[in-house]
Formats: sequence, C-alpha cells, structure tokens
Amino acid sequence: SQQQTWSQRFESSLHPAIAIFNASIGFDIELIEYDLTGSIAHARMLGRTGIISPQEAEQLTAGLEQIRQEYNSGQFTPGVEAEDVHFAVERRLTEIVGDVGKKLHTARSRNDQVGTDIRLYLRAQIQQICTHIRQFQQVLLQLAEQNVETLIPGYTHLQRAQPLSLAHHLLAYFQMLQRDWDRLKDVYKRVNISPLGSGALAGTTFPIDRHYTAELLEFDGVYANSLDGVSDRDFAIEFACAASIIMVHLSRLSEEVILWSSEEFSFVKLKDSCATGSSIMPQKKNPDVPELVRGKTGRVCGHLQGLLMLMKGLPLAYNKDLQEDKEALFDTVKTVKACLEAMAILFQEGLEFRTTRLAEAVAEDFSNATDVADYLAARGVPFREAYNLVGKVVKTSLAAGKLLKDLTIQEWQELHPAFAEDIYEAIAPRQVVAARNSYGGTGFAQVEKAIAIARTQLEAN
Ligand code: ARG
Repeated sequence: SQQQTWSQRFESSLHPAIAIFNASIGFDIELIEYDLTGSIAHARMLGRTGIISPQEAEQLTAGLEQIRQEYNSGQFTPGVEAEDVHFAVERRLTEIVGDVGKKLHTARSRNDQVGTDIRLYLRAQIQQICTHIRQFQQVLLQLAEQNVETLIPGYTHLQRAQPLSLAHHLLAYFQMLQRDWDRLKDVYKRVNISPLGSGALAGTTFPIDRHYTAELLEFDGVYANSLDGVSDRDFAIEFACAASIIMVHLSRLSEEVILWSSEEFSFVKLKDSCATGSSIMPQKKNPDVPELVRGKTGRVCGHLQGLLMLMKGLPLAYNKDLQEDKEALFDTVKTVKACLEAMAILFQEGLEFRTTRLAEAVAEDFSNATDVADYLAARGVPFREAYNLVGKVVKTSLAAGKLLKDLTIQEWQELHPAFAEDIYEAIAPRQVVAARNSYGGTGFAQVEKAIAIARTQLEAN
C-alpha cells in the first residue's frame, strides 16, 4: 500500500485500523467535484500572481479536469490509503501531470480547502432544496385552488373548534414553506463567503489573491479573519437548523395526513401509489410516506444537535473533530430533499380528500357556537354575556342530543329576544366560514386573496 502524504516525518506507518478510523474518503468523496473546482481556482490564482508559472497553472488545471472526467466515468475510485478526498486528488494529479502536481498545494492547507469545499457543496444543495420547496408549494397551491369551497373541521387542542376552508388549511403549510425558502436564501448569504487563502490558520507567506479565487468561485466575499475562516461552521449549523425547521413543518403535515387517513377521521383516502399493505392483516392500507417523513424528522433534528455539540468545546482553529461535520450535512441534505419530493408526490397524486365525509363532519358539531355568540355581540349584547348564554345552550343541547341548528325559533328567542330567523343562515357551516372575512382569515374572499398572494410569492427566486 502507498505511504501517507506526511510519512516522511514519521518513524513507522499507521496502524491499519487507525488508518480506517482516521480516513474520511469513504464519505468526503461526495465533495470531489467541489474540491476539483476549488483547486482549479487556486491553481489559476497561483499562475496569475506569479507564484507558479502560467504554464504550470495550465498543467494543473488540465490535470484536475482530467480527474473530473476519470471520476465521472467511474475510473477514479480512491481507497482508504488516500485518507481523504483532498489527498486523493493531489496524489492522482501528480500521477497525471508529474512533479508539477506537487506545486498545487502551495499557499494552501486542507483546512481552508475543506472549508471551501463544503461551502461550494452547500451552496449547490441549498439551491436544489429551494427548488424542491417550490415544487411542493406549487402542488399545495394547486390543491388549495381546487378546494376553496371544501370545508374541513378546524381544531385547537385536537378538539373541534371552527370550520375552515380546506384551501386555508393547505395555505398555512404553503406559508411555512415560504419562510423555509426565505430562511435558506438567508443562510445562503453566510454560506457563500470564501475561506480559501486562510491557509492552515494564519494566512500564508505567498502573495496570494484571495479576492481573485473568491471571484472565480462566485463567492460573494472573503472571510475577514483567517482563524475564523478555517474554523467557522456557523453556516453549517444554520443550514441544519433551517433544514430541521423544514422537517418539523413536513412532520406536522404528515401527522395530520396520518390522522386524516384513519377510520376515525376518514378525511382522506390514500391512493395505492402512495400506501403500503400489511404482511398479516389483509385489510390494511398504511400511510408509510407521512410516517417516514415524521420519523426522518428526528434524524435531521439530531444532526443539528450533533453539529452544535461538535462545535461547543473546540478551541481555535482547525481540529480534526470538524471532519465529523460532513456526514451530518450529507445526510441532512439527502433526507430533506427526499422528504420534500415524497410529500409533493403524496399531495399531487397520493391522496384524495373525502369531500362528502368532510361536509358531514362540519355540519354535525358545535363548531358554529362562536358564531351564535358573535351574532348576539353584533346586535349589542356584550360578548362575554353572549358567550355565557351560548355556553348554556350548548350544555342543554348536548343533554338533549340536539345540535344548534335543531333549536326552534321560539327556543332561540326565549334565550334572547335579539335572535331572528336569520340565525339559521348565520350558523350554517358555509356561512360560518364565509363570515370570517378578516384579513388572513378563512373567509372565501380572503382565501381567494391569499391564493393570489401565494401565486406572486412563488415568482421570487
Ligand atoms: N478530512 C479532513 C476534514 O474533513 C480535511 C482537513 C484535514 N485537515 C487537517 N489539518 N488534518 O476535516
């Protein structure tokens, strides 16, 4: 097996188990395209500043591009002897271009190199996750447009509260995703700063041009302090936090779908394309997709916690602990993308709202009681007094096995002379929803406006 890059300083070689323990190539190979891109920028900068000759810079970039091709075609598969992706690339480069390959690492450390790589990686991934968010928002918005007039019970404490337009319920998630999108765009600003040129920790003795490499790599700026540049992982924590919030949103929606698909609620029917069966109970149809999303939320939130704990005791600057940031980030990215995609498919084609059952549900409860109190309050009765009166009617109606709509006009008028025939219209589910016409409310007119606003929100990118 090949010697370690740093073996000259050592008397003997690494214990084989420790070599494996130390190596990150098994996972950081995922960074190779960004490592190559970062190295090409560094090589060009070395050439431009005269630290190496322009011809040497050319040779290095050509060799690095060749490695890209070799990797993409499956010919370059470095093993544990390479330790990590950075050594693997440098080593292969030297095989391809000869001794000039050994000049690539002039004025650079793996510390600023790896920091550059993960930022380039996260930058690309954030864009992709934003696209996935947009796709799911599109699906929710379309479904909302089709369901402005569909009513669904609204809950607080998981107790029937007031009926809603189904569109209003779906748009609540649209808005959560909108903030998730904004949050990622905001994290992006702090991801997109170049640590390259920080060196190992203190900068470098060579006349490098950090602004040039930053420009080549399309960073928005450079780290002001080299120590901070190589040891900061705030951006990774922020990303994991934004990702965790996305997952928490998806998990809440998942929980609702799981409830809704139960016999007890029966608000949605799962379609075969997005449900699974049981190995023993022939009748079962299980909501595995939302359950998995709910479950994976724990993983992503765990990664956030892991990254915070990774950083809390680290003295400046680089410490090998930082190698542990990668698997957390890779898994976070992979999980969030997969969950957004699965949820979009689920809502696009995997479930059907049972509208007849929903209409029955909102007609058969006391979720119009607030409207009776509002009816009186609008006619001059102090709200608390009206509320107390209605509380009593609910109690007696429940005891009599009646709903509010079953009360006779005499009964209403005995309760309070302000009641007239129009009370029946006022407590009909459709009217109960329509009447909540305050800005941001579930009234149909508001929901139409909210849909128009959502449309324009989708246009930003
Ligand atoms: N594989 C290392 C990591 O992921 C690269 C940086 C190594 N730097 C060092 N000084 N050992 O963090």
